[in-house]
Order: sequence, then C-alpha cells, then structure tokens
Amino acid sequence: MLVKEKNDLLTQTGPGTPMGDVFRCYWLPALLAEELPEPDCAPVRVELLSEKLIAFRDTDGRLGLMDELCAHRRASLWFGRNEESGLRCPYHGWKFDVTGQCIEVPSEDPGFCKNIKLTAYSLIEKGGILWAYMGDPDKKPPLPEWEFANVTPEQRFVSKRYQQCNWLQSLEGGIDSSHVSFLHSTSLETDPLFRGAGGNKYNLGDMKPVFEVADTDGGLLIGARRMAEEDQYYWRITPWVMPCFTMVPPRGDHPVHGHFWVPINDENCWAWSFDYKSQRDLTAIERAAMEDGQGIHCKYVPGTYMPLANKSNDYLMNRKAQKAGLLYSGIDSIAIQDGSLQESMGPICDRTKEMLAPTDKGIMLARRKLFKAIKNLQEKGELPPGVDPEDHKVRSASVLLPHDHDYEKGARDATKVRPGKPHASV
Ligand code: FES
Ligand SMILES: [Fe+2]
Repeated sequence: MLVKEKNDLLTQTGPGTPMGDVFRCYWLPALLAEELPEPDCAPVRVELLSEKLIAFRDTDGRLGLMDELCAHRRASLWFGRNEESGLRCPYHGWKFDVTGQCIEVPSEDPGFCKNIKLTAYSLIEKGGILWAYMGDPDKKPPLPEWEFANVTPEQRFVSKRYQQCNWLQSLEGGIDSSHVSFLHSTSLETDPLFRGAGGNKYNLGDMKPVFEVADTDGGLLIGARRMAEEDQYYWRITPWVMPCFTMVPPRGDHPVHGHFWVPINDENCWAWSFDYKSQRDLTAIERAAMEDGQGIHCKYVPGTYMPLANKSNDYLMNRKAQKAGLLYSGIDSIAIQDGSLQESMGPICDRTKEMLAPTDKGIMLARRKLFKAIKNLQEKGELPPGVDPEDHKVRSASVLLPHDHDYEKGARDATKVRPGKPHASV
C-alpha cells in the first residue's frame, strides 16, 4: 500500500509536479504517424501530461506541437487553417509556425508579432509514431532506440487505445504477469496471436508463479518462474524501462509485443501497443488479426481510438461465456480484459487500501525506482533511468532454465537486442 501523499506523487503528472518533471525528461509517444498523414492536413488535438496541445504538419512536412489555444483571445487552433507553412487561427487570422512563433497578424504591421510565441515542443517521427519531448530544450535526449521502432514498417504494427484511468495502474498491469494464468487463460488458447505456443501449458499449469526481479540501467527485469518438465523452470521475463515501457514475453514464433502507458491527464492515459518480429515481416494473417483487434490490439468506436467495448457498455460483458468457461472474466479480447479491470479500480487507484502479495514484487520495486528517480531529479537534477537510448535496447524473453540456473545470468543475454538473432521464446 501507499500513503495518500505517495500515491499522489506517482500519479500526478501535470506541469510542475515531481512525476510530471520525470516524464518531461523522455521522448513520449504522442500520436500515430497516420494521424498527421501529409503536409497541410487537418491539425489534431493532443492532450499529454495534462497539457492541451495542437499538433500539425505544415506545408513543408515539418511537425509542430504547441499550445492548443491562440495567443490572441484563446480560441482553439483546432479550427485553424493549415496553409502556407503555418497554422492560421480562423478568428482574426493570426498565424503561427511549427515553433509556436507568431508570423503574421493581418491587422497590424509586420513587427507586431515579433514577441508573440506559443509554448511549443519538439515532435519527431520514428517507427510509425510521432514522439514528443516536453522538457527543457537544453536537455533534449537523443532519439529513442526501441527495437520495434527501428525495424521496417513490414515487420511492425502499432496501435493505441484510450484508457479511462491513471497511467500507473495501467503500467502496473503491464508489469504484473501473474494475472495471465487467470484473466487471459481462455484467450491463450483461442487468440490467433497467442495460441499454440509451447509455453502456454506452463502458464496454465502453474498458478503460483514465483517472481524474481533484477535491476537494470533503465528499469527492471521482472522474471516470473513457473514449473516446467523435470528439472526445468519456465521463465517469462518482462522488461520495464522507465517510465512507462513494458514488453510482454514472447510465445512461440508469434510476434512480440509491448506497451507504453502515457498519461493524457491524471485520470486517462493512452495504452500504446506494438507488435513486431525482429527477423521477418509480419505475415498477412498476423497483420489482419492485429487490424481486426486481436491480441493486444482492439476494435474501436468508428472514427476514434476509443475501444468499442468500453466502460459505457460494461465492456460487452458476456456472463454466459463467463459461466461456461469460454471467457474467464466474461470479457472478450486480451486488451479489453486488461483495460476493463484497470479502469474498474477508479480513475486513480486508491493505493491506501490495497494489499500487495509476493507476486507484486515487480510492482513494489518499480514504485521504489520511481520514487528514487523523482528524488534524484528534484534534489540533484539527475536525469532519470531510461533517458539514455542504450537503455531502450531491451527484449522480453521466455526461456526454459534448469532449476539451479541463476535467473539473472540466464536472462541477461536473452533480454538484450541481439542484431541478427531472434527473440528467445518458448
Ligand atoms: S483568437 Fe485567434 S486570431 Fe483572434
Ligand atoms: Fe494482461
């Protein structure tokens, strides 16, 4: 459990908050590249870390991310005209470039706009994602180096879904792999992106995983050990890289997947989901399943990134399937199984009332690491773990190791990006 002050410290990420300062040290996924598909396309509203922003791609293809409201009388630039290398407010015609600089006030002399500038942040495109950096421009880190973002578009699929709860309870769901044997148990055998893997039987056969957690430069390696044949353990190893990247251990030859849990504001977050294969293209069948919302992706309310099964319709709960054992929780789709329970904790989970168990070891240590990062940043100005792109070169793994084999040693190699080598997977 956490006392209220500590829960507030980790869950509040708006401007000026300590955890918000930590988040503002990283490149964060802000938009799918498909949301700004071409020069002079429609601008898009973006809320990130409780800041309301507008993103646009100008005539020359440059990306802009700045205050949503016009510097003049605060009309939303979402209504703006994206034309001739800038975004023009349709109210009185003031125009801004991608740096937030006002470049034209039609009613005044050219000099008038010189000192008018909106707050603006860097926005770059990589791996099908537009990444934002919202911190001190002098401390901007090199570009992110996540493996999924470095493979070809044919090897990768990325989606995002709106999640109506705080980022931390969502992240903690990504760290906790003990729920797989329960919540996702029926989907392991039916989902086209999970079924058939050799490791599934160990997940379903041993409901008492033992957790071992190792520290890494960027975060943690969370290992869950289950009984396998003879003298072996089946290990599922989840890397967490600060602040909000988790990667699900692979299954057989299925694509490998993971998430970012990015705060929109304190009561909502984006659940980013990626899938990739390091050594081959995704097959047409795999891609079609992802586009259809299978695996860790989902179906949407048309024209939005809101899941079709959501809080307003009780996630399309199917009590018959729950009773019949066809769906363990009665909710279809792995993404929505996770999202439904994470949202059910309330907009911000009240951790003063929780009771953690040994299977929550990864969660406990992750919180500890977050507190330490906050303290070091506030007191010493020390950049938090996970900012260095070297820390991004991690992989999840599933491996069989003899009982007497040291987990950390057995896992270390398998959990690094090894060019030319596939993921370690059972
Ligand atoms: S409010 Fe934008 S130009 Fe007047
Ligand atoms: Fe899950």
